[in-house]
Amino acid sequence: MAAQLIDGRKIAEQIHLETKLRVEKLKIKGIVPGITFIRVGEDPASQAYVRMKGKKAAEIGIHSDTIVLSENTKQEELLALIDRLNADTNVHGILVQAPLPAHISETVVFSYVNPHKDVDGFHPINVGKLMLGENNGFRPCTPAGVHELLIRSGVPTEGAEVVVLGRGNIVGKPMTSILIQKFKNANATVTLLHSRSKNIEAHCQRADIIIAAMGFAHFVKASMVKPGATVIDVGVNRIEDKNDPRGYRLVGDVDFEAVSQVAGKITPNPGGVGPMTIALLMSNTVQAAEAWAH
Ligand code: GUN
Repeated sequence: MAAQLIDGRKIAEQIHLETKLRVEKLKIKGIVPGITFIRVGEDPASQAYVRMKGKKAAEIGIHSDTIVLSENTKQEELLALIDRLNADTNVHGILVQAPLPAHISETVVFSYVNPHKDVDGFHPINVGKLMLGENNGFRPCTPAGVHELLIRSGVPTEGAEVVVLGRGNIVGKPMTSILIQKFKNANATVTLLHSRSKNIEAHCQRADIIIAAMGFAHFVKASMVKPGATVIDVGVNRIEDKNDPRGYRLVGDVDFEAVSQVAGKITPNPGGVGPMTIALLMSNTVQAAEAWAH
């Protein structure tokens, strides 16, 4: 393998150490950072994600509660619960795990969370602050985690050609918003590609950094990558695998085996972006509690 691995687990642990110190400072002031997770329905992936987030919160001294609602919960009932948590001074962060059942509007629900408790960074106020380049909002955890990965593994973004694959609200759009800002460690030239884009291969071949978040297994092939480029794999895709006891296995958006022969730096998957999402969620939760303390 030619490429250097970007170890997301190691970088995430470093961030957790920093976050833990911030938690300890808050505790001296009598504040225990608290986050409440809301899960609607029994989607196995969402169950696993919320469990992992709760476990990590406990490890670094953040209090967490998980509220599980049935698949049939009415939107108004979920909004009433969010109202209650918005008013609860022990709750600094509220996270409603996506995806929600089809009869509930994610846009309505995310807009209902108090923007000061919106540790996911999905509220329109926080989306707007990010787009405006204001630093006092919350940034969505996955793209903020990718940004930290780039910074902490020494990948320069100033003037770099970046291709973001995928235009979702959770990763692609906010990733672009972060990297185009007039900030140190941003200032990139970003091309956002999506399912209707033309000449995807040619765009990718020009890129110094490719961030793949389109939800398409093994989409990024070696032929699309410039030698020495950095490749970040955000994808989590299920593919059938009869040899796996679950009947499937999880793979990323990048054909790792082949691309790692060409790239300069690459994230493993798992062990790349996933741990960073959790690290940034913990950091955002502490940011919410710190704002409370002022
Ligand atoms: N589902 C997939 N990613 C996320 C995320 O970052 N936050 C929430 N709330 N749900 C998700």
